[in-house]
Amino acid sequence: MKRILVIGSGGREHAIVWALRNTSPVPVKLFCVPGNAGIGQLAQLVNVSVNDQASLARFAEANSIDLTFVGPEAPLTAGIVEAFEAERLPIVGPTAAAARLEGSKIFAKDFMARHGIPTAVYRVADSPAQAIELLRSGEFGDADSPVVIKADGLAAGKGVVVAATRAEAEKAIDDLMVQHVAGEDAAGRVVIEEALAGTEASLLLFSDGRDYALMPAARDHKRIGDNDTGPNTGGMGSITDASVLDQATLGRAVREIVEPTLIGARDEGFPFKGVLFLGLMLTAAGPKLLEYNVRFGDPETQAILIRLKTDLSAVFESMHSGTLGRLRLDWAEGASACVVAANRGYPGKYDSGAEIEGLDDVDMTRVQVFHAGTSLAPNGRFIATGGRVLGLTAAAENLPAALELCYGALQTVHWPGIQFRTDIGRSPRI
Ligand SMILES: Nc1ncnc2c1ncn2[C@@H]1O[C@H](COP(=O)(O)OP(=O)(O)OP(=O)(O)O)[C@@H](O)[C@H]1O
Ligand SMILES: [Mg+2]
Repeated sequence: MKRILVIGSGGREHAIVWALRNTSPVPVKLFCVPGNAGIGQLAQLVNVSVNDQASLARFAEANSIDLTFVGPEAPLTAGIVEAFEAERLPIVGPTAAAARLEGSKIFAKDFMARHGIPTAVYRVADSPAQAIELLRSGEFGDADSPVVIKADGLAAGKGVVVAATRAEAEKAIDDLMVQHVAGEDAAGRVVIEEALAGTEASLLLFSDGRDYALMPAARDHKRIGDNDTGPNTGGMGSITDASVLDQATLGRAVREIVEPTLIGARDEGFPFKGVLFLGLMLTAAGPKLLEYNVRFGDPETQAILIRLKTDLSAVFESMHSGTLGRLRLDWAEGASACVVAANRGYPGKYDSGAEIEGLDDVDMTRVQVFHAGTSLAPNGRFIATGGRVLGLTAAAENLPAALELCYGALQTVHWPGIQFRTDIGRSPRI
């Protein structure tokens, strides 16, 4: 029996583990580090830190793991792929060199510039004084023009400020570079860039370093409140649907962004192996690249993988062995949605500890309940412990039908203090 180890603990990893089991024609033995209570129903949980490379490698070796797959970015930028490969342990994911596409916004922007990939006009500032000087130079418009400030390093979603005015931008520079609100090391340098207007789309692909396979384009909802109000979150919902990226725009994104990226990475000596996430802004002048992530997104993954029909372990193996070009990926026709249920207070300080009711009444043949922040009580019931708690996910013939399945399940799944957006897939500005 194949033995696969997944690293990570969120809704994304639950969807990966579920898809590995659901798409495999034969039984597979799954392990997850550290996993969560929901993942524990499908995989053996392993209590090791995702950042402890030596212990992870020892576990993979001792348990004869056939392939390891990494969910979050931190272990990848820290070089877990090289650490495993040095010990001949099979792992699929980008090397630390390739993971710089996510780990450093400056590296990513300079890479886009070197390869002529359409993106927002930008400048780099090495100090708060230089950043303020750039802002005041007029290069990014006048005091009322929007501008975007980005911390160079990994900042767990806290490193980007879209500032409506120059005053807001100057405050963002102080917050990031002087007060270190995105972490001590993330914003020693920042990118200042032009604010682009348009709708966003997430385009993800599998790559073996030479060939690639696109996934259905997705869209996520970042704000906590309906109609895109309130603070940003890790993501309150996502959809896949043909309307996210029309065929002509997709063709252009592939020619102008996807292929130059993969060819550029190979030419620069770090062929990209793994899952690549392209954050696109669909502007009047065509698709432009906002960012790279070097791993699956959360909650895009839930909505994407629920449509996968090809054996995911075979996809991972072909990425590892460099034979992805020989594999044809099949996706369920139609659309999908994931609606995140969170605890009251999230993304700030949130309630925790309520027992989740109604899980047994969900029609698991139509709706998957991916766990993000739950734990198991001694009585066998699930407790809502995290900020984001569950992702109700469904595929159907079209988007309204997929949404109806998710929201239908949310009429039975309940706990005191549950909050979710009621306009996933319908919000005018996503
Ligand atoms: N140039 C831009 N113009 C307009 N909006 C932008 C621009 N750059 C970023 N944004 C907005 O800020 C969000 C976050 O930016 P970005 O994706 O670069 O940051 P991130 O912290 O790496 O995000 P993630 O957590 O999704 O990886 C984008 O999804 C987009 O809404
Ligand atoms: Mg990112």
